[in-house]
Amino acid sequence: MPYNTVDRGTIKKMVREFYAIILKDDVLGPYFIKALGDDLKNGKWHEHFNTLDNFWLMMMTGERGYMGDPFPSHAFIGELYPETFERWLKLFNEVVHKLFVPEIAEKFYKKAEILAKQFMDNLDINGED
Ligand code: HEM
Repeated sequence: MPYNTVDRGTIKKMVREFYAIILKDDVLGPYFIKALGDDLKNGKWHEHFNTLDNFWLMMMTGERGYMGDPFPSHAFIGELYPETFERWLKLFNEVVHKLFVPEIAEKFYKKAEILAKQFMDNLDINGED
């Protein structure tokens, strides 16, 4: 049964499942391996998971915890293209739809899409103009 609540437990499940898929992806895997290594059990990944749990909890419920700015780390992880973001969004959409009821999955996806657009604007790769 898909989850119909968003809380720390369901977010933790989503975050871990998403990055396990991302790490194996030909397009996205290398960015993460370069930044965090290829072992999801290492300390850097542990920290990344905690950050992402707090980030999504804040995005979806408003609960405080994430204090950072999500953009800056993306400026230094290698060249990113619109296709890189499309791939990220596609895999994210699949995971949230697999784990959550459609209304919640769509809310996750809309938030991610807005951020992806902002990141592309900041990186000046939005493909417009
Ligand atoms: C092109 C697609 C993307 C790639 C390749 C990517 C890659 C990465 C990498 C490698 C890191 C870790 C950086 C580090 O700790 O050294 C990171 C952090 C992060 N990413 Fe992404 N990302 C992508 C898109 C997104 C999108 C669309 C979102 C939001 C919906 C997002 C949210 C975050 C957040 C919140 C962090 C943690 C930032 C912090 O440390 O405060 N990413 N990303």
